[in-house]
Amino acid sequence: MSKEKSGVSRQLLTKEGAFTSDFEWPLTLLVDKGLDGAVTNKSRVGYVDGDKGRLIYQGYPVEVLAENADYEEVAYLLIFGKLPNEQEYVEFSQNLKANRKMPVEVVKIMDIIYDHEHSHPMSLLRTAVSVLGVLQKNVMDTSRENELRMGMHLIAILPTVIAALHRLRLGLKPVEPDLNLKHVENFLYMLHGKKPSARDARLLEISMILHADHGMNASTLTAVATSASLSDLYSSIVGAIGSLKGPLHGGANEVVLKEFLKIKSVDHVKEFVAEKAAKKEKIMGFGHRIYKTYDPRAAVLKKYASKLNDEVEMFKIAEVLDREVVAKYGSRGIYPNVDFYSGIIYRHLGFEINFFTTIFAAARVAGWLARILEYRAENRIFRPRDVYVGEFNKEFTVREKRP
Ligand code: ACO
Repeated sequence: MSKEKSGVSRQLLTKEGAFTSDFEWPLTLLVDKGLDGAVTNKSRVGYVDGDKGRLIYQGYPVEVLAENADYEEVAYLLIFGKLPNEQEYVEFSQNLKANRKMPVEVVKIMDIIYDHEHSHPMSLLRTAVSVLGVLQKNVMDTSRENELRMGMHLIAILPTVIAALHRLRLGLKPVEPDLNLKHVENFLYMLHGKKPSARDARLLEISMILHADHGMNASTLTAVATSASLSDLYSSIVGAIGSLKGPLHGGANEVVLKEFLKIKSVDHVKEFVAEKAAKKEKIMGFGHRIYKTYDPRAAVLKKYASKLNDEVEMFKIAEVLDREVVAKYGSRGIYPNVDFYSGIIYRHLGFEINFFTTIFAAARVAGWLARILEYRAENRIFRPRDVYVGEFNKEFTVREKRP
């Protein structure tokens, strides 16, 4: 925050990292890797309080929403800034239901390109959204009304695409959405072909509520920056899915579970932490740019993961690893993040490990949309700069004479 971006010294950072005043620059530029401290907008959508470990959506603590609301209400809240009344809720839910069905072209393309060994579900999801954008009418109409129309389509259809990919992977036919079921219930229904228990539907719903928005994180910034050039919503969500996929962001949830499986038993946790420290490797599912204390989402997910009778061993490993890492690195502000306990819940719900981040995307799409709409209200294209540390006036040599 304190990094000053104005000044009169007009300095240029040289290759060696020292400043010289040889060249005229309009500003004093300080390199801010990862845009640490940059503020892109004033927002009412949500607040991440990294010191106190609080997450707020439109004024409500996320724990309160996870306990009391459903996903439809939370998506409505993020987008419209208030909880829906009964009529608004019914209309919003009906609108989502009307958008659930996946065009046959998308299923066909997914079926053709799905390489069961190599295709990552996040790549397929990204491609499916891109195809949906090609099939969609009027994508370049950037009015709020049209963006909302397309946003509802995306919130509704992502679970359909993910469930279809899951089934195609298993050699099964995709299941048509059931319009009598709520958003999250229908997600699990399309995944397994049978109505989920109320407890399982609620578990996924809580996780999706906790993942629905989280400030100007990497994928949200990607979505907003894409949209700020007045590009279409599908392009923004394609970019956001691509960003979320990375293991430093949403993709960490997969790696975390793979590491639990590698650790195998609580007896090996200490050794695992020591090995990571010796190799100077990060432990996935820990650390955060904003939180320097326990991520409130991880605390809620931990509570629910601890209750799963079929995941007792995984939970024990997680709990001991949590304790060990916090004891070692807690003083440096490294604590479990949202990706640490979520995988245990997804495994219990029958998702394969490489599908974990797709669930994150299906939840976060509401936040992406809310942030895009908010930024668009006072839109300005993104254009940060970098500092040129190369040479000037190099002599050109023709190709034949180059060494
Ligand atoms: N394990 C061990 N050390 C860590 C970890 C970790 N998980 N995370 C950060 N550190 C250390 C770094 O090694 C670094 O130490 P140093 O100052 O001695 O070099 C210091 O903490 C700062 O780390 P950065 O990577 O610079 O922090 P940044 O804010 O850029 O990155 C990030 C945040 C990407 C989340 C990082 O903590 C990380 O890589 N964590 C593991 C991946 C992960 O769990 N990602 C999911 C994040 S939540 C989400 O995106 C949904």
